[in-house]
Amino acid sequence: MPQTHAIYAHPGEDLLSAVLQQFDVHDDHLFNITRTFLREMWDGLESYGHDMAMIPTFVRSTPDGSEKGTFLALDLGGTNLRVCEVNLHGDKTFSLRQQKYKVSDALKTGEATTLFDYLADSVDAFLTDSGSPTCALPPSLTPRDLTEASDPVDVHGSYIPLGLTFSFPVEQTALDSGKLLTWTKGFSAKNAIGNDVVKLLQDAFDRKHMHVRCVALVNDTVGALLSRAYTSGGCILGAIFGTGTNGAYVEDVANISKLGRSEEVKEGGLMVVNTEWGGFNNSRSALPSTPYDKKVDRESINPGKQGFEKFISGMYLGEIARNVIVSLIDVAPKSLLFSGHSSKQLNKQWGVDTAVLSEVEEAWEGIGRFAPEDSSRQPSVQQKLERIRDVIVRRMELPPDSVSLDDADIIRKICTHIAWRAARLSACAVAAVLVQTGRARLTRGDEEAKNTVTLVDEGKRIGVGVDGSLVEHYPYFEKKLRASLRVLVGDDVEHRVDIGLAKDGSGVGAALCALVACRQNITKQYHTVSEHEVANGLPQSLGPENSTCLDPLVRT
Ligand code: BGC
Repeated sequence: MPQTHAIYAHPGEDLLSAVLQQFDVHDDHLFNITRTFLREMWDGLESYGHDMAMIPTFVRSTPDGSEKGTFLALDLGGTNLRVCEVNLHGDKTFSLRQQKYKVSDALKTGEATTLFDYLADSVDAFLTDSGSPTCALPPSLTPRDLTEASDPVDVHGSYIPLGLTFSFPVEQTALDSGKLLTWTKGFSAKNAIGNDVVKLLQDAFDRKHMHVRCVALVNDTVGALLSRAYTSGGCILGAIFGTGTNGAYVEDVANISKLGRSEEVKEGGLMVVNTEWGGFNNSRSALPSTPYDKKVDRESINPGKQGFEKFISGMYLGEIARNVIVSLIDVAPKSLLFSGHSSKQLNKQWGVDTAVLSEVEEAWEGIGRFAPEDSSRQPSVQQKLERIRDVIVRRMELPPDSVSLDDADIIRKICTHIAWRAARLSACAVAAVLVQTGRARLTRGDEEAKNTVTLVDEGKRIGVGVDGSLVEHYPYFEKKLRASLRVLVGDDVEHRVDIGLAKDGSGVGAALCALVACRQNITKQYHTVSEHEVANGLPQSLGPENSTCLDPLVRT
């Protein structure tokens, strides 16, 4: 059983307030954190090997909604594995058919080849399922075809283009290759770090003689950015607040000085950068660590890493709350919770899911699954606390008579404090991107810039695509984030920030990148084969429509 915090309460001491106050982030801290964030962004843009990796993605433009085609997308996130068939209709809309598969702990922590074989099996199962696009595909490649061809794409042009959304830090070297820097979110599969994840996946497809070709690699944040741009016509930041947290934004290539004198820099223009902000401030010099955060970090599989993520994301909030709860149960000489009772669930690491915090807050606010049928009748405080007590009994597996209404109230306060802190810190990341891209100034301490620098896109809407369980389901997460954003960048800018859910962003983003890759591939082949052959080189149901139309995506 993991150790708990030993707390001794002195007579008359308001221990609960003292514990809760540790989770308050004052405005001064918000500014300090945002400034540190901006400094760390610059470090990452300047050279390799920093906490915030600031990864160039080789995505040079964002879509405008006119893109068309049907693509396969494979999405390995934190919790699920998804295979989707995405149909981009070319009018800002899309349709999507998907299948989710579970990724067991054994797969997350076993051999990388086993994990990637499972990914390939899932794609195979999806394609084999009824209604799959395989009906329009050429016959499977034989092992001979594959070994004799230097490049499977060249085999009668008969492959299904697939975009891979891989939601881990990957140092990209091209649109279709990149090395895994480190695992996050509880993954630790062996022999993957340092390897090209596209190759690991392609090898798995080839081992199974599948006519699928991984043509593009994207992070889920890049997917959120691209898909939001596709559906809304403009977006500068894609952010995930889910099991993990991260953001990708559109940067001036000239600022990515670590690219040196590469072709991209010579060309100029813009490039999407995957910040990997989950790794912001691993030193914890600016982040407001409590003893609970330190314990959660120490007991995680990546101590000292993903500093920011461990304050914000769904993987950790429940675990922070569990540690606070257990420490209050154990307070001596007199317990502060559940008359000193604990439960198997509470004693187990990861025993409290962030969804429990969400449910407690919904029960208090009377929203979501607790929304009243008749909204004119407001429940009393007692009724709300009774609902919370039910959630606690059920989700923390405690005997009903050990949970009082006072306990329910304490649990509610713990949840609210932890979630508020997460939302306030998330606002720092969004504010930093707005400042970095010249769309905002900090409202404090930027006096000189206020008079001399004009803002980019002054007066225009600022598109932000978001996805993830916290922002989608946690009560008022966005509202809380916005309140802190207002403090940091002022009402006018906050008002213009148009935060929209990039639902299915991972799938749609991967499809959009696959489209770019196919167009680039077609461009390459264009000089050696006839236009007719190019147009017919791709399976009819999968691939970009109007494949002879080679316009790049719109420059933002
Ligand atoms: C990963 C990022 C990812 C984020 C959200 C983090 O743990 O490092 O690559 O974008 O989770 O899924």
